[in-house]
Amino acid sequence: MKLIFSLLFFFFNLNFSSVLARGPERSLLSTSFSGSTGHLFEGNPSETSFDKAKGHVTNAELEKAVKEFRQRCSNISRICCMMILQFIGNVHGDEPVGRELLILLANWICNNHMKDPLVRLIAENMHLHIFPSMNPDGYALKRRGNENNTVLNRDFPYQFFPMNNDEEACQPETRAIMSWVRQIHFTASASLHGGALVANYPWDGTQDKRRYYYGCPDDEAFQFLASVYSRSHYNMSLSTEFQGGIINGASWYPIYGGMQDWNYIYGGCFELTLEISDDKWPSAEELPTIWEYNKMSMLNLVASLVKTGVRGRIFSSDSGRPLPGSITIKGINYTVNAGRAFADYYRLLTPGKRYEVMASMPGYKPKSTSIWLEETATADFILDPDSALEDNTPRSICDCSCDSKAKLVLLEFLLGFHVEVCFVLIVIGALLCFLLKRRQKFTLGKHKQSPKRSVVV
Ligand SMILES: *[C@@H]1O[C@H](CO)[C@@H](O)[C@H](O)[C@H]1NC(C)=O
Ligand SMILES: *[C@@H]1O[C@H](CO)[C@@H](O)[C@H](O)[C@H]1NC(C)=O
Ligand SMILES: [Zn+2]
Repeated sequence: MKLIFSLLFFFFNLNFSSVLARGPERSLLSTSFSGSTGHLFEGNPSETSFDKAKGHVTNAELEKAVKEFRQRCSNISRICCMMILQFIGNVHGDEPVGRELLILLANWICNNHMKDPLVRLIAENMHLHIFPSMNPDGYALKRRGNENNTVLNRDFPYQFFPMNNDEEACQPETRAIMSWVRQIHFTASASLHGGALVANYPWDGTQDKRRYYYGCPDDEAFQFLASVYSRSHYNMSLSTEFQGGIINGASWYPIYGGMQDWNYIYGGCFELTLEISDDKWPSAEELPTIWEYNKMSMLNLVASLVKTGVRGRIFSSDSGRPLPGSITIKGINYTVNAGRAFADYYRLLTPGKRYEVMASMPGYKPKSTSIWLEETATADFILDPDSALEDNTPRSICDCSCDSKAKLVLLEFLLGFHVEVCFVLIVIGALLCFLLKRRQKFTLGKHKQSPKRSVVV
């Protein structure tokens, strides 16, 4: 069962210092648009700052470009059950190529939406959040660190030994990213760097601080995703330094306190660190070429995320309500949590293999199913309450249900958002009814064969 809406969501965060001064939630600049309406092509696209972004843009120009983009491409702001991906640029202040490329990417997607099949696939299946600059202060100062001269990619809490454990003492930019990642529930992320040409994947650091290949539980999936980027690039995969144009971070040079490891282990988000140009700060004239070299990589990475892995939702068999449980894969020591509101999950996996997928939730009996993953597979789980635990375990962990509470949630949405969202709500309502009906069928003990590549367990 899959909900498909043609929506994209763009997020631009321009200046974390000001964000934190004013409180993270309120001042986040967010922008989104829908492909199902005509808003995309309002105005003349060729007259925007985005298209003029041929040179290195200043922070003020970036902000202006984002505002124009919001006017031109803005529409609906929130829907459910979409994989969420983020691109983060300019983590190191002196590596501005990522920020330029992200502006071009956003603009390209906006202009080619509805025209290009790849973009349509992306639009129909995911929310894309774009942060052109994580470190605008470092950019303005033309240096690696931020305003306090702290290197942000060493400022995250670390898993193997105590480091940056006091989150309050982390830099504002770091705290903003952590809070954002916890709030948004990203499936995957890519941060853009310069100074090399390679797609780097976790782990970035080792337990004993020595340098060697140190793969994370999802090493295979990461190699696959890194290779998608590298092979779609003009010449990244031809590297003589990095075989296939990809590298395990710890085997290249171990770092501690990096964003990539934090995102994977604490954020539940698969992050790649993409080094996209040998030259950290190339001249403005070189940017269009670098964009051409990386364009297909960026788009194919997004598309392959949409197409690679197992997804679905978890429900309770007694009430039919969504259960924000967790998903594990036999043989991979990593847990993916379903979303809190809609209990949707996205588990990235290497295609072309068989997997044993298990859903669990405290107070419910876990269930598992075996799937053959050609490209993407859908597996919805309907869990039975564990009667032995029923008396002791509170079952009100879920944010929403299919009864009056769901209506309240829907009402909140209605009050807060665009009319177009009504359409989304109607579809969600229909889905909930459908699931309730289906649940009833299940309790009658009839298990009808699900459609191709979709399993209900
Ligand atoms: C990729 O192409 C660029 C531009 O021609 C060149 O400078 C760079 O050395 C090439 N890199 C590899 C790994 O072939
Ligand atoms: C699984 O990973 C956790 C850390 O996330 C670790 O503490 C644990 O020992 C691992 N279990 C196995 C069986 O490797
Ligand atoms: Zn960097």
